[in-house]
Parts: sequence; structure tokens; C-alpha cells
Amino acid sequence: MKILVVGGGGREHAIIKKLKENPRVTRIVALPGNAGIAQDAECVPIKATDIDGIAQYVREHPVDFAVVAPDDPLALGCVDRLHALGVPCFGPDARAARIEASKVFAKELMKKYGIPTAAYEVFDEAGAALEYVKTCPLPVVVKADGLALGKGVVICFDRREAEAAVRAAMIDGAFGTSGSRIVVEEYLEGPEVSVLAFTDGHVVKPMVSSMDHKRVGDGDVGPNTGGMGTVAPNPCYTPEVAERCMREIFLPTIAAMNAEGCPFKGCLYFGLMVTKDGPKVIEYNCRFGDPETQVVLPLLQSDLLTIMTAVENGTLADVPVEFSNGAACCVMLASGGYPGKYEKGKVIDLGKAETMAQVYHSGTGRDGEGNLVTAGGRVLGVCCTADTLEEAIEKAYAAADQVKWDGMICRRDIGRRALGILRGE
Ligand code: AMP
Ligand code: GLY
Repeated sequence: MKILVVGGGGREHAIIKKLKENPRVTRIVALPGNAGIAQDAECVPIKATDIDGIAQYVREHPVDFAVVAPDDPLALGCVDRLHALGVPCFGPDARAARIEASKVFAKELMKKYGIPTAAYEVFDEAGAALEYVKTCPLPVVVKADGLALGKGVVICFDRREAEAAVRAAMIDGAFGTSGSRIVVEEYLEGPEVSVLAFTDGHVVKPMVSSMDHKRVGDGDVGPNTGGMGTVAPNPCYTPEVAERCMREIFLPTIAAMNAEGCPFKGCLYFGLMVTKDGPKVIEYNCRFGDPETQVVLPLLQSDLLTIMTAVENGTLADVPVEFSNGAACCVMLASGGYPGKYEKGKVIDLGKAETMAQVYHSGTGRDGEGNLVTAGGRVLGVCCTADTLEEAIEKAYAAADQVKWDGMICRRDIGRRALGILRGE
């Protein structure tokens, strides 16, 4: 089978590695891929957002199955286009992808169907939003409506911050058109849990839970990033919480999307806060998370291609989705300056990392001499699995410490909070 994977980050690298475990997979083409993915698949330099280019490619080079991984092409209707060309796909169509692409769509869906989430107000106009934040309860969270690379969310502890966040999004256009409409919502407290779930629109099969570390600095300080590291499973996701999530959130969300006439098929990502009043949705993503995928898929014992085809065919109920009882840790290595400005093109020395861990490439390229170089903010995800979380963390850091480049940064505390919870601290 020839498989097309749209995307070019660490998540896609992890998906490709997993798909390759199936002997029926003979060829994988990544659009556009990256220097690390090029060791596991053929990379063709067509951007993930170039839907016309992708359609043209599959017309000229037929594929048997496509996996569309990133949010932008999903929101732009990549799956709709590929389906129109007769290509079976893993991923939601554009109407279902609104669950991530529009925070207002997601919030209204949750309100209409009684799915627990933070209380909120929507504003299309800066004056009314500025007026609202003068008196609303604090802290308060200001979110751009559209896709903003995980950076369109500002948590404001005082009114001055809230006013500045509204101004940045709605007047200064910090998030482009994504910020012309904003959601202002209640601040939720509690540990955060990420749950990725396969769904074919009928049944939902959650994967092992995980914990992202979104802030750039140790101890959860500094600006939000795309994710600086992950561990799985997440100790806050107890069987009781899992049962409530299934009953109060996962099944109602699938039913709500069906009732709205836009059934969701693919991987639905639930960003959850386990509050004292129970689990609540912080966000939905219409895709695998990055770097959650890098810890979840290595623990998957069932065959990924079989699951993905069952999702497309509506037969997910008939296939197993099983995970090992072990744990995994992914330490993200990033460019100095990320998530702000950073330089690219730094030569990477991997040391012995690849013999000690699974190294997923997020943002890498080759220079004129063929050296592996940095090509993005998040560069590499160094991942290990083990019987226990403690061991997985230790192994991942031992491998991450092998890697060097000028200006490299990484958090030193990935998994520390999870370990503390496991130890009852
Ligand atoms: P989002 O892009 O919606 O996932 O938001 C990014 C991060 O901001 C989340 O992972 C949370 O850590 C935080 N966040 C978002 N919404 C809230 C909220 N209502 N209360 C507390 N933290 C939040
Ligand atoms: N790690 C969070 C995300 O993929 O959006």
C-alpha cells in the first residue's frame, strides 16, 4: 500500500514510524516532511496548506490511503478534496474540523449540548470586550477565535493584562484575522489532561492519556508554546475521571457533531481540566496533538493502519485499540528564543541519542553540505518508553543530553509534576 501523510513535524514522524510497522505498507510519501522524516519516507516539497498542490500530486501519483495530520489543511478542506478524488483518508472534513478551527463554534456546541466547559462570552467588537473586562471575575482567559498556532490564548490575572490582551487581538491584529473575534472565558483550575481519541462518528476509543508542558520555562513559567514535552499516561486521569469523561464529554461530543450534521471522523483531541467540579473541556483539537502523539503512539500495541482504515470505513467498533501498561516521556529540544524569534540553520550534533531513544524530528533540514540543521522553533522530540514513568523520564533525558547545537533549549522538568502526583506529594 502507498500512503500519503500530509504534514512535516514530530507528530507526522511518529505517525509514519508507527504506520511502517504494518508490512502491508510498502511506500509512504510525506508532504512536505522534513530531514528526519526523509529517513523513513519519501518527502515531496509540497506545503501542507497547498491543497491544490496536494490534489495535483495525488492525481499524478495515485495513493491508496491518506493521513492528514495538521490543523490548517484539515480546516482548509484537504480531506474533502482528497475524498472528491476518491482517496480514502484519515481526518475530519472541513465542517467537522471547525471544532478546532473556530473556538466560537466549539463553545456554542458545548453550551447547546450541555458539555462541561468554562463559562464564556463572545465579542466581535473591541469596545464591548474592553467594557466587559473592566468588571468580569479574575483571572480571565482571552482567546482568539481562529487558529493561532497555540499562541492565541492569554491568561490574565489583572484588568490591565486583560485589556492589553483584548487590544492586542482586536485592535493591533496580533493574531491576524484569527483575533477579530474573541472568546473571553472563565479561568479553570486543576490539573490538565490531554486525551486523544479515535472516532468513526459512531464509537469513540480513547488512547492512553497524556500530559503536555505548554509553557517554555521550567516550573510552568514564561509564554505558551506548541508544547515543550509530554508524558503518558497522565496520573490525574484516574479510572473515575475517565469514566466521567466518556459519559459527560466524549460520547456527548460525538453525538453533538452528528446532530449538527457534521460527523467527526479521525482523531479528536480533548484538552481537559480536571476541576473540583469534575472534568471540563478547555479545547478540542481536530487532530493528533504534538508532542502528545510522540508519547501515545509508541505505547499503542494495536496496528495503526488497521485502526485508521476502520475509522474511515465506520467500523471502529470491530477493531482493537490497545495500549501497553508502560509509560513514555518526550523531551522537546527547541531553538533559543522560541516561542519568540529564533535563528535557523544551526548544525545539530545528535551524539548517541538515536541509539538511546526514538528521536522524532519536528523542525530539521539539511544545509548545503548535507549537515542536519535546525529549521524551526521546536526541532527534535527525544522519546523513551519504559515500564515506569520514572525510568522513561530518566532515559529520555540521558538521550536528550547527547544532543547539542548552538542555542539549544529544553525544559529540565518534563514529567516532574506527574511523578510527584504518583508519589502522592
Ligand atoms: P488552548 O489553546 O485553548 O488549549 O489554551 C492554551 C492553554 O491555555 C491551555 O492548555 C491551558 O493551559 C490554558 N488555558 C486555556 N483556557 C483556559 C481556562 N479557561 N482556564 C485556565 N487555563 C486555560
Ligand atoms: N500539544 C498541543 C497541541 O497539539 O495542540
